[in-house]
Amino acid sequence: MTNPFEDEDHTSPRRARAAREYVPDLGNPDLYRTDARFAMWRDYAVADEPVWSEPGSSPHGFWSVFSHEACRRVLAPSAPFTSEYGMMIGFDAETPDRAGGRMLVVTDGDHHTRLRRLITPFLSRTNATTLDQFIDAEVRKCLSEAVRAGRVDVAMTVGPRLPAAVVCEILGVPPNDRERLVELTNHAFGGSDGTFDKMTPSEAHSEILMYFYELVERRRSAPGDDLVSTLLSDGRLSVQDVLFNCDNVLIGGNETTRHSITGCFHALSTVPGALDRLRADPALIRTAVEEVIRWTSPAMHVLRVATEEVEVSGRVLPAGSPVVAWLPAANRDERVFPHPQRFLLDRQPNKHLGFGNGPHHCLGAALARAGLAALLRVLVEQVRSITLTGPPEWLRSNLTQGYLHLPVELDPM
Ligand code: HEM
Repeated sequence: MTNPFEDEDHTSPRRARAAREYVPDLGNPDLYRTDARFAMWRDYAVADEPVWSEPGSSPHGFWSVFSHEACRRVLAPSAPFTSEYGMMIGFDAETPDRAGGRMLVVTDGDHHTRLRRLITPFLSRTNATTLDQFIDAEVRKCLSEAVRAGRVDVAMTVGPRLPAAVVCEILGVPPNDRERLVELTNHAFGGSDGTFDKMTPSEAHSEILMYFYELVERRRSAPGDDLVSTLLSDGRLSVQDVLFNCDNVLIGGNETTRHSITGCFHALSTVPGALDRLRADPALIRTAVEEVIRWTSPAMHVLRVATEEVEVSGRVLPAGSPVVAWLPAANRDERVFPHPQRFLLDRQPNKHLGFGNGPHHCLGAALARAGLAALLRVLVEQVRSITLTGPPEWLRSNLTQGYLHLPVELDPM
């Protein structure tokens, strides 16, 4: 099978110019279903000029940046941008997100700092030995089933299982409710158009929020040491604010992590002898984890709105301009990452923007890294090699670079 991730010829000035002259609606999710997106992102990153998308997928249009430098600057702590109107294509100063100023990822300033302080202990690894053990046990459970089966669609099995279980653990979902919640979560974030229990994905998401509403009521009368109880005990958050922030952790923990886990299998399959190298030198697991995040870049874009007139890559944009940073493009910027299409187990330095940059840098980064490190450790123990048995099928999404299907064969040790 050909490897679409092999390096292609460097972008010619002619192609970069053509990329500037014709601009599709970059919010169109169909653009991201094929590997053609990599060449498109590379051309825009090389040109390194803000690109305007006319109203379409977004009611008022938006600017885009692609190079590592431009994305890093737009997201930097001191940059004159806000997340409070929303952080996805579709939101801007004229159509703000109703969670703005209430949900961590779309809140700035002091309230953002306070929310981050409340949530951080649950997602950082510093006091999480039990969480590490939980992650290790879950990885072993999922992987043993997959290795026994031999041929699996990772995007439907291992990928989704682990994050859903970890998020339930963090949020304090009682064991009896887990199976149902994991199923609902998989349906809500699986990216499939099918139905589960007669529900569409968005109905499954609403069902989860209803479940959290009941959990909040239960925790009010019987608090525990989980995130829901901690958010309630702050005393300054309404029930709706607590729900918004549970939802933030639910989405943050599920939407991206499942695709980095699935993508880890994909990445390893592109490098002959990758698992043998990790077996011979387990110290490579640390650099391999970073490379999985860079290479898979599941968070595809983040949006900001300019709070004042601002210069972005040589162009002056007025206050109120929505600007989208395309993280996978930045993570394959050839000025920063030599042979960016290649998955290199020992890539160093690896200053990727997979977890964003600045004040909203991913709060679950340590947890995501811990999950991937556990996965690699168990893969090294149990699997000799990974072979794709069909081409990957990509999600139809402008927000998540992820897999609908990834069929593989696992050769057991
Ligand atoms: C924020 C990516 C895993 C929770 C972010 C942001 C990115 C990101 C790019 C910044 C958003 C922005 O700037 O607007 C990823 C990737 C992951 C991952 C690629 C896995 C490979 C997780 C996990 C959790 C989580 C496992 C929790 C269980 C959050 C939260 C925020 C966030 C709460 C908001 C932080 C803030 O606004 O201060 N993530 N994430 N993420 N992520 Fe993650």
